[in-house]
Formats: sequence, structure tokens, C-alpha cells
Amino acid sequence: MNCAVLNLADFEAALKTRYLGRGANECHEEIDSTNTRAANLAALDAASGTVIMARSQSAGRGRQGRQWVTPLDAGLAFSAILRPNLPLNKLPLVTLAAGNAVCRAATATCGVKLGLKWVNDLTAQGKKVGGILAEKPVKALIIGIGINIRLNRAELPEEIKDRVDWLENLAGMPVDANLLAAALCQSLEEELDKLEEAQYQTVIEDWKKNSVTLGKTIKATYGGAEIVGVAKDIGDSGALIVEKAGGEIVELSAGEISIRMADGSYC
Ligand code: BTN
Repeated sequence: MNCAVLNLADFEAALKTRYLGRGANECHEEIDSTNTRAANLAALDAASGTVIMARSQSAGRGRQGRQWVTPLDAGLAFSAILRPNLPLNKLPLVTLAAGNAVCRAATATCGVKLGLKWVNDLTAQGKKVGGILAEKPVKALIIGIGINIRLNRAELPEEIKDRVDWLENLAGMPVDANLLAAALCQSLEEELDKLEEAQYQTVIEDWKKNSVTLGKTIKATYGGAEIVGVAKDIGDSGALIVEKAGGEIVELSAGEISIRMADGSYC
């Protein structure tokens, strides 16, 4: 079976949401970055729930200023314009909520169980399958989500070749990007509803169930220094609570972690 390429008609026909995906959505064959486009539209007062998607990105952005590569029809590049009614200190929970949403959408669409690596990585057996980039330009919160659907390992840069995976490889079946995007809108709307109803702990507990981070020894940069400790818990605003060898507790509210593998290496 060949799946249709990402397109607005199929995506919108599959939607089951109240507001997410119900704006003047866009689907581009190529764009620089769906997050950039979404931020520009938000500045022009585009409606909350508007979704920008692309079949390829020429300047896709990841966290920490990294590039996010989106070859044509190899994945889902998705950004939503949101204006959630949330206290400022709860905004970081939107990234956790988006992680839960992707996990549910992937299971519903193709039966794949993804894991969440704090704070924004979507993984399977230690390999990266996607990522989340939340940005806060004026007038909106932009949630950008990139999910690998079909990659060709031979065409990947040497340094990431063995560190990534994709849904069709994991599912052993074709995955329709339109159905995935529509399922993502549904699960993301459900997660955002929970946050707006102040069910913060429900979102955190669900994130913990999907987590591949908690209980692991991790390495991170904290206060300019490298720390190593065990990831113990998630704080009320989404911080990662880490216990260092001497028992000292530190809370990481931003940044990136590496997880220690069985062979002692970190990834
Ligand atoms: C990461 O893991 O570093 C986050 C990757 C986020 C990539 C997505 S693809 C759609 C949206 N547009 C972008 O330019 N970035 C995000």
C-alpha cells in the first residue's frame, strides 16, 4: 500500500478535534521551517489551533540551535499555534503534554510505542524517532513536532546513521502522515485540555509512564558544570529532579541530558 503524501484535504478529513487543526491550516511541499512560519502567522493574529505542516524543510530547527533535517516525505513536520490559558510557570508542561500526545498518536496510527527522553526527545530502543521544539514568540506558543516516518539509512549522515529510527521501520507497515497528523491534533488537544483544567499531575504522571529517563543515570550540564546523577522524578513545572552521587538533589529546568547505557557510554 502506498500512502498519500501529506496534504490538507486528507488531514482535515481525518480530524476529530474542536479547535486544533480548525484554523487556516497550511501544508507546504517545502518551507524553511514550519515553526518560523507559525510564529510569523501568530504575529499576524492567526487563530489558535492553526496548524502548519510541510513535506520538507530547508531550515528546520531543533533544540539548542541544531538543524532538523526533513527530506521530502520522510517525516511529519508539524507546528501548531497555541495560546493556552496557563500560568507562566506551567508553560514548560506543554512540552511534556506534547510528548504524551505523540506517544498516543503513534500507537493509535501504527501501533508503535515510543519512549520519552526528558525533555523533548521521542525515542525507540534508545534511537531518536522525533523531537519537540516549543517556542514562545510574541502572541503565541508554537509547538513544533518532527517525527521520522520513513528514512533511508544509507542516505543519512554518518554521525546520526545508527542513532535514529522511524515509524515505518518500527511498525513494519506503511504509515499515513495525514492520519498521524490528525491523530496528533486529537491527542494534543486532549492533553492541552487537561492542562487548562489544571490537571497538571495527570499530564506529569502520564509522561512518567512513557518515560525512558526516570531511574536512569544521566549526565547533564548544570550551573556551568557537568553533573552525573540518577533521574528521580519530574517536578510540578516539568523540571527533571536528579540525585547526585552524594545525595544532593538538583532540579534541571532546561537543557539536555544524556542517559548512561549498559556499556557505560552515554547517549
Ligand atoms: C529536537 O529534537 O531538537 C526538536 C526537533 C523539532 C523539529 C520540528 S519539525 C517541525 C518544527 N519546525 C521546525 O523547524 N522544527 C520543528
